[in-house]
Amino acid sequence: MSSAGPLTVAGKRGLIHRWREHLPVTGDTPIVTLDEGDTPLVYSERLSAEVSAEVWLKYEGLNPTGSFKDRGMTLAISKALEEKSRAVVCASTGNTSASAAAYAARAGLVCAVLIPEGNVALGKLAQALVHGARVLEIEGNFDAALELTKEMAAGHAVTIVNSINPFRVEGQKTAAFEVVEALGRAPDVHVMPVGNAGNITAYWRGYNEALDEKWIDSLPEMHGFQAEGANPIVRGEPVADPRTIATAIRIGNPASWRGATDAATLSQGSIRSVRDKEILEAYRSLAQEGIFVELASAASIAGLRQMSETGAIPGGSTVVCVLTGHGLKDPDWAIAGAPQPRKVPAALGPILEHLDLA
Ligand code: F0G
Repeated sequence: MSSAGPLTVAGKRGLIHRWREHLPVTGDTPIVTLDEGDTPLVYSERLSAEVSAEVWLKYEGLNPTGSFKDRGMTLAISKALEEKSRAVVCASTGNTSASAAAYAARAGLVCAVLIPEGNVALGKLAQALVHGARVLEIEGNFDAALELTKEMAAGHAVTIVNSINPFRVEGQKTAAFEVVEALGRAPDVHVMPVGNAGNITAYWRGYNEALDEKWIDSLPEMHGFQAEGANPIVRGEPVADPRTIATAIRIGNPASWRGATDAATLSQGSIRSVRDKEILEAYRSLAQEGIFVELASAASIAGLRQMSETGAIPGGSTVVCVLTGHGLKDPDWAIAGAPQPRKVPAALGPILEHLDLA
């Protein structure tokens, strides 16, 4: 055990503890955790009925900072500390920066984040700020920010904690372990949003390791969905000016491009796009089922519907859709399309009248 201090002593919870034998840690790795992982796999009756399959939702918005990024960040920050790094840096559409800021604060590391100006949801920005990250708004998009981050990490004593840091993908693969554990098998079909493509790379690795361990005897088809205005993998070339309302996946040149195409090809899956309108519809229908996600996460459900319409979901099959981030990250969209609160006098009469209960 290292002498890194009480906040980094290996806890009994969190995913490094849980999956230790399957992760690149040793007894000397100081573990920085916020008890991430172990998120619910929620059965969706409505979606199951709609697509005539068993649809399960991996609700990653319930991680400590509200997105799946915490799975990779617990490992990336722990390893940065083990390697005696003093500062970490990332480019982000918001969630990576929120997670990096929280874990770096816990570890006592300086955290710098480069975000695309004007395109980060308010909740995510609030998180980076409250945890004391040094936030730089770049006059450019995510892809430009990532290039700058790589240049910074190459020439200076800082650790990059984007998913090009191999520990990020290692941590994130544990979500596939949890799916397998909850279902007692692999799903037939796995559906998820794709932005920088680290997460689809991670799930594919996780399922393959589960197969190697003989926890499962088959692999799922991997289907990734990009937003139509930010769909470089679908087009087969970078998109110079990516555009989508789902700012988390507003990415024109994904770092893990190859990981995404490998997952899709080797699993007989696909990488396709969904329109913003479909993302928004999926977002609202999930909310009507009591599940609040951010727009990028709803791309999973928009993708599921698209697949179902083209007959790509076999009847009765087991489907897992990943819901990557919590809806509270981006309150603007939630409020924009909803009926606004009404002002009423503080008296029972008018209240009952407004509720049609008078
Ligand atoms: N969903 C959410 C909520 C995300 O924040 C991201 C990526 C993705 C999906 C796509 O995952 O990049 O592994 O393909 N967000 C990154 C960020 C880019 O900076 O927070 P991916």
